[in-house]
Amino acid sequence: MNAGIETVVFPVAGLGTRFLPATKVVPKEMLPVVDKPLIQYAVEEAVAAGARKLVFVTGRTKGAIADHFDMAYELETELEQRGKRELLETARSVLPAGVECLYVRQSQALGLGHAIGCARSLVNEEAFGIILPDDLIDNGDDPVLAQLVRHHHETGASVISVEKVPREKTASYGVVDVAAFDNRVGRLRGIVEKPDPAEAPSNLAVVGRYVLSSRIFEILEHTEPDHRGEIQITDAIAELLREQAVDAFQFEGRHFDCGSKLGFLQATVEYGRKHPELGGDFSRWLDEA
Ligand code: G1P
Repeated sequence: MNAGIETVVFPVAGLGTRFLPATKVVPKEMLPVVDKPLIQYAVEEAVAAGARKLVFVTGRTKGAIADHFDMAYELETELEQRGKRELLETARSVLPAGVECLYVRQSQALGLGHAIGCARSLVNEEAFGIILPDDLIDNGDDPVLAQLVRHHHETGASVISVEKVPREKTASYGVVDVAAFDNRVGRLRGIVEKPDPAEAPSNLAVVGRYVLSSRIFEILEHTEPDHRGEIQITDAIAELLREQAVDAFQFEGRHFDCGSKLGFLQATVEYGRKHPELGGDFSRWLDEA
């Protein structure tokens, strides 16, 4: 059994049309929640889960993501010369030493499953993680991906994070069928992508964290596009669970859907309230307003 994960894949090729005009030239993953771009939260979560290899599946107009994780020579030299040690540290802390970033392009928008399949040649034969940066999860000191990795380490099963949503929202998510939960974990019997509420097997929605067996890549090779014309990771997982154990993990933390403006604003307020320097002033201002 494999002891952990080395690689995390970040599908970041989406156009982000819901945030136009902000995302006309800026990738949606670079929009900041307070002072950090969304993708930075995702990368920190991956690194906290032990990942040493980060694979970004990018597309056109996404160059700023690679720039963000490169060393910024001009900026660093300037800050160094001006003696701005703290700012220099902030700029450098974007990526810890020993963590490698790799980039692969999804040249056509053929769905999340297709995007993940594009990472195949950069992921080894072991289980790997996936983080969808739109799904920001505040789980204190124990980020969700690290919890999934621990579960995978203990059981060898693939594992995906889920949370309860109002039944009328099932058509926005992958939805799981689980017989029973024991200590937040349940073995998957089925999974469907964006079912109508009347047909949904439960109200437990997949939220963007996965640890999957690399067998998923072989399955994705023959996964057919769905009625929307997209190759879904959900459909590939539905096939995987017929061969191997796949578990659902109900996390405790607070999830913000930063793919929507409302979720993004909510995250901004919550992370603003908790910010080490601004939190006090911001909370007082909010409470007085
Ligand atoms: C994707 C997945 C879906 C999952 C969701 C979580 O959908 O296809 O199964 O529940 O992410 O955010 P998307 O939001 O990209 O339409």
